[in-house]
Amino acid sequence: MDLKSLLERMTLEEKAALCTGLTPWDTVPVERLGLPSIIVSDGPHGVRRAPGGFSGDIVPATCFPTASALASTWDVELVRELGEALADECIALDVDIVLGPGTNMKRTPLCGRNFEYFSEDPHLAGRMAASLIDGVQSKGVGTSLKHLAANNQEEQRFTIDAQIDERTLHELYLAAFEYAVKEAKPWTVMCAYNRLNGTYASQNHYLLTEVLKDRWGFEGVVVSDWGAVHDRVAALAAGLDLEMPGPQPQRTRAIVEAVRSGDLDEAALDESVMRLLSIIDKAQQTPKGGVSIDIDAHHALARRIAAEAMVLLKNEGNLLPLHDASRIAVIGVAAKEPYFQGGGSSHINPTRVDSPFDELQKLAGDAVLTYAPGYAMDDSSDPALIEEAVALAGEADVALLYVALPPMKESEGYDRPDIDLMDHQVALIKAVAARQPKSVVILNNGSAVAMQDWIDGPAAVLEAWMMGQAGGGAIADVLFGKVNPSGRLAETFPIKLSDTPAYINYPGDLGKVRYGEGVFIGYRYYDTTGTDVLFPFGYGLSYTTFAYGNLRVSAETFKDVDGLTVSVDVTNSGAVAGKTAVQVYVHDHAAAVIRPDKELRAFAKVALAPGETKTVSFALDARAFAYYHAGHHDFVAESGAFDILVGESSADIRLSATVTLDATQTPPTKITRDSLFRDWRRDPQAYAVIEPILLRIVDFASKIDPSWTLENIGWADELLLESVFGFWGAQVLDDTPEQTVTDVLAQLHAEG
Ligand code: BGC
Repeated sequence: MDLKSLLERMTLEEKAALCTGLTPWDTVPVERLGLPSIIVSDGPHGVRRAPGGFSGDIVPATCFPTASALASTWDVELVRELGEALADECIALDVDIVLGPGTNMKRTPLCGRNFEYFSEDPHLAGRMAASLIDGVQSKGVGTSLKHLAANNQEEQRFTIDAQIDERTLHELYLAAFEYAVKEAKPWTVMCAYNRLNGTYASQNHYLLTEVLKDRWGFEGVVVSDWGAVHDRVAALAAGLDLEMPGPQPQRTRAIVEAVRSGDLDEAALDESVMRLLSIIDKAQQTPKGGVSIDIDAHHALARRIAAEAMVLLKNEGNLLPLHDASRIAVIGVAAKEPYFQGGGSSHINPTRVDSPFDELQKLAGDAVLTYAPGYAMDDSSDPALIEEAVALAGEADVALLYVALPPMKESEGYDRPDIDLMDHQVALIKAVAARQPKSVVILNNGSAVAMQDWIDGPAAVLEAWMMGQAGGGAIADVLFGKVNPSGRLAETFPIKLSDTPAYINYPGDLGKVRYGEGVFIGYRYYDTTGTDVLFPFGYGLSYTTFAYGNLRVSAETFKDVDGLTVSVDVTNSGAVAGKTAVQVYVHDHAAAVIRPDKELRAFAKVALAPGETKTVSFALDARAFAYYHAGHHDFVAESGAFDILVGESSADIRLSATVTLDATQTPPTKITRDSLFRDWRRDPQAYAVIEPILLRIVDFASKIDPSWTLENIGWADELLLESVFGFWGAQVLDDTPEQTVTDVLAQLHAEG
């Protein structure tokens, strides 16, 4: 398509109409010009194709594990594979763009949609999102990276005003989006419902235009979350290209009138239309329909991903993998009615669902399986259910407790009131574990749960997440050791809710939520404050062990423009094949701002045969050492010492090395009359201007007090330059201290 000439041939009404949907999922066609509509569809852990609109049936599709499970794989290649499979299903189901991935940060474990999000860490989340996008788009199907930005709670999600300082916004809440936009170029980005610093995301010019389009170079379409637009014209002017859903003829009229009255620059409309034409054109290049989904292959992939995602949290006495168990008590409703996805717009109509019990039976050989439901999936507690389960556990060699959060706890649209299992589930776990020491708890949930109350009871705990339709088989694979667990937590499991960093700033009041914890969420908070956690970020056990050695850095002192290469040897020091996620964190010794104790900057999933060693290398660029400087409105990597920390979790650092960054690109501090003396000293250019004066002052002053030397004036750091000159300078200055400062500032700015 010649997009430019198409644009020129479109009437104002046609252009305006294109910027709002035709139906819940289709864009407006312009038949006169041969411009087709394209179809978007929810996801992203499957394709939620709903041809009949909001109320119609959902076409069956493979339900893969949800994002919190995906991130726990720490395997970007696997996530890319998932993306490719999703694209195949989109093609089969006539879908041009799948509405995902979601990459909001897990600020609080209470967020009802955490199961749809990757992590509390923007590097991990950004890489996961980029891989998924890459996988989908490699097959000519589009994605919608969502929800930009700060949709980190469902409570009051349509209106809440997230108050986030500039540094925190860029370092945490935008960073994963930034990475995915720059690396993977999603066709569309979906704006959030909420307000950000006073303005709805859908009308936020700073967010949608200045940052997303101008700074990050996003060339695709900004689409609204469904119903997120309040003032269509203001949204368009802010950079919101496509409003969904449709039809909303009044929106088209509003745009037309605004252009006619001069309230909206037609050039802004044309830009949005060009962006839309460009993705409609791209979508046409991959014909949809006419193929069928390879249901079995995708089910097998869903099982593989689910198994890779499971995190073995506890395994006392190496109870797992199961061996020599001839009588297995299977307890818990979730063993027969699996809880494998969350509620809301991501809900998939699965092609089939594996029963965890049946899958266990298939791998159990001659072992006899018995079953008791143990609990009801609602608040009702029935002591008889617990008694029955305890009796069964007592007769068996091992008890497997399948414990799932009830579906009403985790969903789009509302948050969890707490992070606990249901009381009667806790009672069940305690009672069964007291009777049967060889008890294993298998959890299904989408985000961290508290376990302090019962974790001492069972010998083993497996976090199986919302594991998708094939998760039942994946659990069996892990329990019987067909798959060695290699999932690692993508979010910290706190001891209790009140330990979590956003606790006193959630859910906000009077319509605003203040992100008062700043950049300190997740392990950034726990590690910096030394707060104990139940299971740290990055944590997960294996049926084997890994040894780390030979940490090397490409240079002890390196320039930001060159970056640093870090290599480490990882050995499988146990008896079975396994995989681990090698994690690289950076710790800054000192900076102009307070920084987290450590930040994840690289990782790799590595598969190792017993005894095998692999060298893993990581390239760290300047950004890996940088923080966001609100004064410069940009990321800054300061000169100085940094530790490179390599380990198995944020709390299990195996090796470290100290390096020095020689920054060549640090923007100069903006020196003003209000700058402190230390700012003058730290800025080479500014210091060069005042040094001759200081030398004269010190020369004079040292005659009175010999301890006064240029090297020994740290005490003056907190003073204004005027005061420094005032104390000692009056004797040697050619002018008043005030006038001298005026002169040096003039000189500095003339030079700068
Ligand atoms: C959700 C989005 C979703 C959209 C379309 C919204 O309520 O927040 O994630 O893609 O609906 O169903």
